[in-house]
Amino acid sequence: MPFDVARAREDFPILSRQINDKPLIYLDSGASAQKPNAVIDAMSHAMRHSYANVHRGLHRLANETTDAYEAGRETVARFIKADVNEIIFTKSATEAMNLIAHSFGDGLKAGDVVLTTEMEHHANIVPWYMLAERKGVELKYVPILDDGSLDMAAFDAVLTDRVKIVAVTHMSNVLGTINPISEIIQKAHAVGAKTVIDGAQGIVHLDVDVKALDADFYVFSAHKLYGPTGLGVLYGKAELLNAMPPYQGGGEMIARVTKDKITWNEPPHRFEAGTPAILEVIGLKAAIDWLSQFDRAEVVAHEHVLYQRAYDRLTQINSLRVHGTAEGKGSILTFSLGQAHAHDVAQILDRYNVAVRAGTHCAEPLMTRLGVTSTVRASIALYNTEEEIDVLAEAVAKAQSFFA
Ligand code: ALA
Repeated sequence: MPFDVARAREDFPILSRQINDKPLIYLDSGASAQKPNAVIDAMSHAMRHSYANVHRGLHRLANETTDAYEAGRETVARFIKADVNEIIFTKSATEAMNLIAHSFGDGLKAGDVVLTTEMEHHANIVPWYMLAERKGVELKYVPILDDGSLDMAAFDAVLTDRVKIVAVTHMSNVLGTINPISEIIQKAHAVGAKTVIDGAQGIVHLDVDVKALDADFYVFSAHKLYGPTGLGVLYGKAELLNAMPPYQGGGEMIARVTKDKITWNEPPHRFEAGTPAILEVIGLKAAIDWLSQFDRAEVVAHEHVLYQRAYDRLTQINSLRVHGTAEGKGSILTFSLGQAHAHDVAQILDRYNVAVRAGTHCAEPLMTRLGVTSTVRASIALYNTEEEIDVLAEAVAKAQSFFA
């Protein structure tokens, strides 16, 4: 159906909340998106009518809930064009990264290289740093250019057959840069490296076809995709998952347990020890079904119009510096306002009911590269409007006059 922002907003009860008789303006969806009724109702319905543990019971509720949980896996698989047994549910995108670093990373040895980039979120740095410490692997960072795009010449220069993993974000959570991951994946494969794509932001704004991309691993979380918290998705190529050892031990991830010998279940269950996030998977399915009613290109175009409006209005403010202007970037606008501390700016914006994120955005190496200690970030979602962007711009202008 054609995208109509006014109609879409009606699906989000929280967006009608008023604070001091003024509307709430939520521009922090990059941290976590608000939830449509479809998600709230699906989770509530399950709890009210059909809930039990999955894969363990033989009674009606257990069977219904197992079907609902596995339907969630099928929906996610269809959404990113994967096979169903290539979808693993974790507690977060961060846990998915740690799973790869521990399990696939176990096969690395001293002298191997993991390549990440200067623009990564900590979730795509720290697990590799820990792997480097554990295995004597070298961790290298591909630099960025001043516009916030990845320095592809530097990437080419550092990409040797010592590189075993290339871990890169699809879309930067700070700069909004959309990386050329198809080219990166092809180049990584040419030297025999595997690719780990952090799709936490990318999955929200881009069509993802893991097979067309030929990605080895693709990771994202449900809560940024209008779904619930407490749930991450790990896509891995079947041939890689089949060969990987478990990350955590417990119920359901085993084939057989005796006192002396334990054998592993097949993926995806091998990587889902214990009771999984059942309700959250039901919620994510509802989020994807809800999102899929819209023409994705129209949603992206809407977000881009808002980004451009925000950019045009905010850059009229003299002391404001935008971080990240790469061509084709997504709808995240990060800035500094003169010498003002980002937290102070965010608190002033909050007085106008404008919610933004301020700080390092879990990307400290990037802050160092940008020469700042913190920044302010407005992240745009499909439910934002032109009027909201105008309030943001007015509030930032007022903040600027406060600090002048
Ligand atoms: N990774 C989330 C963000 O960028 C929390 O805000």
